[in-house]
Amino acid sequence: MADDVTEILNRTDRDITQAAALLAAGKLVAFGTETVYGLGADAANAKAVAAIFEAKGRPHFNPLICHYESADAVFAHVEANAMAQRLADTFWPGPLTLVLPRRITCPVALLAGAGLETLAVRVPAHPVAQRLIAALGRPVAAPSANRSGGVSPTSAAHVLAGLGGRIAAIIDSGACRVGVESTVLDLSGPTPFLLRPGGVSLESLEAAIGPVRRGVTPGQAERTRTLRSPGLMISHYAPTLPLRMDAADAAVDEAVLAFGPPLAGARLVFQLSADTNLNEAAARLFEGLHWLDAQAPAYGLRRIAAMAVPAHGLGLAINDRLSRAAAPRD
Ligand code: TXA
Ligand code: MG
Repeated sequence: MADDVTEILNRTDRDITQAAALLAAGKLVAFGTETVYGLGADAANAKAVAAIFEAKGRPHFNPLICHYESADAVFAHVEANAMAQRLADTFWPGPLTLVLPRRITCPVALLAGAGLETLAVRVPAHPVAQRLIAALGRPVAAPSANRSGGVSPTSAAHVLAGLGGRIAAIIDSGACRVGVESTVLDLSGPTPFLLRPGGVSLESLEAAIGPVRRGVTPGQAERTRTLRSPGLMISHYAPTLPLRMDAADAAVDEAVLAFGPPLAGARLVFQLSADTNLNEAAARLFEGLHWLDAQAPAYGLRRIAAMAVPAHGLGLAINDRLSRAAAPRD
């Protein structure tokens, strides 16, 4: 269900109403959230959800996040527990996704959750996302609005470059404040487990609910073994150019992703944060990868050297995305 022409919408009430009507008709609409742009479909419409996988070229075993208007709406579809309630009170609306057991009555298409008994849910803080979900009156399933494996988009222009001609519309929602995807926390087991570091830091999660486990669970290892190509999942968020992390020098053919004073001799630099502010660096990370990809060829540069970023606060999410971008590709 490709749409040849992708319409660019604005933030007026009329445009939001039009975007919601497109979703209700089973079409795909990209919209801004505070983390990254999402590629939205009516979560209850299995055909529309299937179209997300098609437009992104996303493997069907990789489940989507459902976006809700409020915590009450979330907990009508998934089973809450005390930790989920506490986290919802503390961080929603905001960049936190919780994985919880689906209720039997949950109307979200099974495909959205890739057939799992759990569902990933969040309440976004961006006004455009909130107004769109409210106008549809149902949850919106939305992965990041990029081709599978590519860098997540933090502007309408990024979405258009990656998915233009494949989706019905993009709501130009401005730049994304947080800039890295939401933190994904699995609360469906006996102890909370960090599946993906993101916009809410591990430190602030632990301040709210105590220790959070991380690393690879036996269940995840099992799932990874069953994947057609495990490398497909590890190499994610990848720019077109090869990238190496923790660079202490820049080779002649390398563009530099800087954090603080740039490496000596660099001919092309994207500065994440001159005064090493991790929140600013997170907000600029994907912009930087998109920009270096676009600019490097004109300078005869073929690789990206990313300077070291400390792994605390949002630095954990930044390092996670950089290590995926640096992972070997198929
Ligand atoms: O910030 C964000 O989270 C953005 C915006 C649009 O909300 N969305 C996003 O979606 O990054 P996506 O599809 O690119 O990443 C969703 C992540 C994937 O790693 C997926 O495997 C995981 O969440 N996930 C989704 N449902 C899950 C489930 N039931 N169990 C475990 N992991 C799940
Ligand atoms: Mg993604």
